[in-house]
Amino acid sequence: MIYVLGSINADLVVYSVRFPDVGETVVGNDFLVNQGGKGANQAIASQKAGGETTFIGRVGDDYFGTLVLESLRREHINLRVKREKNTSTGIAVINVDEKGDNKIIIIHGANGKVDGSETAYLKERFKKGDVLMIQGELDASVVRDAARIAKASGAIVIFDPAPVSSELKSIIPFATFVTPNETEIKTLTGLSGDKGAEALLKMGAESIIFKKGEKGLLFLSSKESFSVSAFPVKAVDTTGAGDTFNGAFAAALHAGKPLKEALVFGEAAAALSVTRKGASISSPYEKEIKEFLKTHSVKFRVHT
Ligand code: RIB
Repeated sequence: MIYVLGSINADLVVYSVRFPDVGETVVGNDFLVNQGGKGANQAIASQKAGGETTFIGRVGDDYFGTLVLESLRREHINLRVKREKNTSTGIAVINVDEKGDNKIIIIHGANGKVDGSETAYLKERFKKGDVLMIQGELDASVVRDAARIAKASGAIVIFDPAPVSSELKSIIPFATFVTPNETEIKTLTGLSGDKGAEALLKMGAESIIFKKGEKGLLFLSSKESFSVSAFPVKAVDTTGAGDTFNGAFAAALHAGKPLKEALVFGEAAAALSVTRKGASISSPYEKEIKEFLKTHSVKFRVHT
């Protein structure tokens, strides 16, 4: 089983040619309300990519709670989601410009109430070969406990340190894969680029997947280190591309694909997702990823 312990948000997304400057008002060209949240996005990406996935989290007892749960149900994801009384569902206010870049502010809402009862649920279920996906949108101590329990059970832990904070450092030693981007590496290590990724590996993770967006990725472990180029696509909206990568990568790994193949599968899913608007709504199905891979390829380079 693939488990995701994480956040679920309602994404309020405004599209405009460019981001406003401080004190400036700009006219947008589209507005969407979608299910989001890094956890729920990863769960949906995994399920759509062919992985049997369970999502564990909380929503509020409001309109947005109903809306976001419907999105997970539509994809037949196993749910262990509590509805918190008198609490709002997590919210993300997102601006996307014409290059597809985004700026996001989140309000935790019910995500902030996830606690030891969720980790207790996982503890009873984890077995060797399961996958746990975690991110930084829940209380860091809860996420760390889940990672520790998963590792002790022989499960694979895929940790996305986003949104980044220095509190997340203590989770790194429990991760099989840490999947940061440039900003996250800088915050966690104080160093930039590949040097920062190497420093992150030394903090105790089994491996690092440094997500470089349109520049592809760098994989680092004590056994092997290599970079993978990206699939060239025209980006419309990059929101949730990293989540889509993690979800599809997890599904491929859990299905027994070798590491390099799973990384390329994740990259293909992310490439497809940025050509469409929205977060999880843009993540592709297994069939679409396989079709894409018939006509597209990437290059590997040994990292020294
Ligand atoms: O990674 C993208 C996600 O970040 C959005 O869906 C938003 O909800 C925030 O959690």
